[in-house]
Amino acid sequence: MFLPLSLLIIVIVLCGYQSTRKPKNFPLGPRWWPFLGSAPQVQYLRKKTGHLLLATSKLARQYGPVIGLKVGGEQIVVVHGAKALREFLGNEDLSGRPNSKPDTYRSWGKRLGIIMTDGEFWFEQRRFLVRHLREIGFGTNDMSTLLEDESQELVKYLLKETNGGEGILGMSSLFSIPILNALWRMLVGVRYDPGDPKLAKLHGILADMFKHVSIVGRPFVAFPILRYLAPEASGYNIYMEVYRRLIDFIYEAIDDHKQMHDPDCPRDVMDFYLSMINRNSKLQSSTFSEQQLVIICIDMFIAGSETTSNTLGFCFLYLVLYPEVQRKAQEEIDRALGRERAPMLSDRQRLPYIECIVWESLRMFVGRAFTLPHRAIRDTKLCGYSLPKNVKVVGCLYDSCLSEDCDMEDPLAFKPERYLKNGQVVIPDNIIPFGLGKRRCIGEALARGNLFLFITALLQRFNFSQMPNESPPSTDWEDGFTPRPKDFQVVVSER
Ligand code: HEM
Repeated sequence: MFLPLSLLIIVIVLCGYQSTRKPKNFPLGPRWWPFLGSAPQVQYLRKKTGHLLLATSKLARQYGPVIGLKVGGEQIVVVHGAKALREFLGNEDLSGRPNSKPDTYRSWGKRLGIIMTDGEFWFEQRRFLVRHLREIGFGTNDMSTLLEDESQELVKYLLKETNGGEGILGMSSLFSIPILNALWRMLVGVRYDPGDPKLAKLHGILADMFKHVSIVGRPFVAFPILRYLAPEASGYNIYMEVYRRLIDFIYEAIDDHKQMHDPDCPRDVMDFYLSMINRNSKLQSSTFSEQQLVIICIDMFIAGSETTSNTLGFCFLYLVLYPEVQRKAQEEIDRALGRERAPMLSDRQRLPYIECIVWESLRMFVGRAFTLPHRAIRDTKLCGYSLPKNVKVVGCLYDSCLSEDCDMEDPLAFKPERYLKNGQVVIPDNIIPFGLGKRRCIGEALARGNLFLFITALLQRFNFSQMPNESPPSTDWEDGFTPRPKDFQVVVSER
């Protein structure tokens, strides 16, 4: 009895000691405690600063732009500052995605989708998606018409709410339904009326997902045993429940599609995908399957809906805080389009100040965000440090474009004119909202198109101002899948 117990204690002590050791030439960072790694220090700073990215940014000030952490059993490198971020995103050895088991819980234990896969599988699927998004009009005039429709629907909604005068509206969630509709229409060809119960259902599921399922810092990912020990408290149960509801919703759409499917006449991305599954059905090695189609749709929602609507949320928060920016934008719109003609994507050249507002809003959004997590697919170097194969690497965009130390004048201020050089829009190197390299965002054209049209269409018809007798809305934010402004209300009045 005594011998096995002593042996057990020795094994635990040795494992504990082993878990505190850092790989050779690993990026600097706080010390690793047995089994917990640097989680206690990160958690302490997170509590103190209010946000995970402010915590890692504080550590970066102490240890340098590339910091080496360990959370539970997982080694994580966090990259700060524009120079190190560019090196990280440009390094193909770091273009993998984490392949830990918890990342497959949502997808029947398999690595599926676009955003959490890598290698040949990811390459083939990403190429297919990009090609067919383009084929159904992504980045072309067809997309333009679709987005123009959505922005005008929102104008109609606001006209109703203000009823020829003014109204009070919550802005932080105003954009999620129209943005979701544009995305769903590209994927599945269906446009819902704003009051449609199916749209409300999809919106509700995604709202739950974005609220409960953070991209970093899910406790059961760092400590998988929590899935069994504390399924509720670790967030595992809610994570699985939200995914199950979303998967059921998408399977319904697939079943509807199959009824009307005509391989000779594809209407949307789902049609193209179903044809590909049929064509490859006899190939053992095919990467195309219904399960993969479901997870692709989910990935497009994850990557494409909240990112755009929260950027718009930040945009209108700052437009309310900076009425002079709003006025300048409206003067530009009045000069270029007048008040009657609805804006089109092709007007972008004529509205450089609005383009600058788009970029400044993106800065305010991504400056509060991390990139998606990457993985080293082989041993590699980053900023002189050695990163072993499989280490997780995440970029923190705060220090590159929003913190007081970043390479910009008055970074906390909303100043669209900072991008205007002799009438031209010039974007500095430290602004990389869509990432770089192999993992660069595939939705940039859609996102920038949506941002431009929604901002222009709303400012053309309405003024947005602070609530009277209340303090100005806060620029603090809530963390979730992506950062979102805290709920705020504004007075909207017809111009
Ligand atoms: C304001 C809007 C958006 C921002 C700021 C944004 C930003 C980003 C960034 C920074 C990445 C790369 C992260 C990395 O290095 O791993 C990314 C990836 C991605 N984005 Fe976007 N995005 C936006 C909108 C969209 C939209 C509308 C779509 C869908 C049509 C989309 C689809 C994707 C996908 C699928 C990926 C993963 C690519 C891959 O892993 O290969 N994004 N996005």
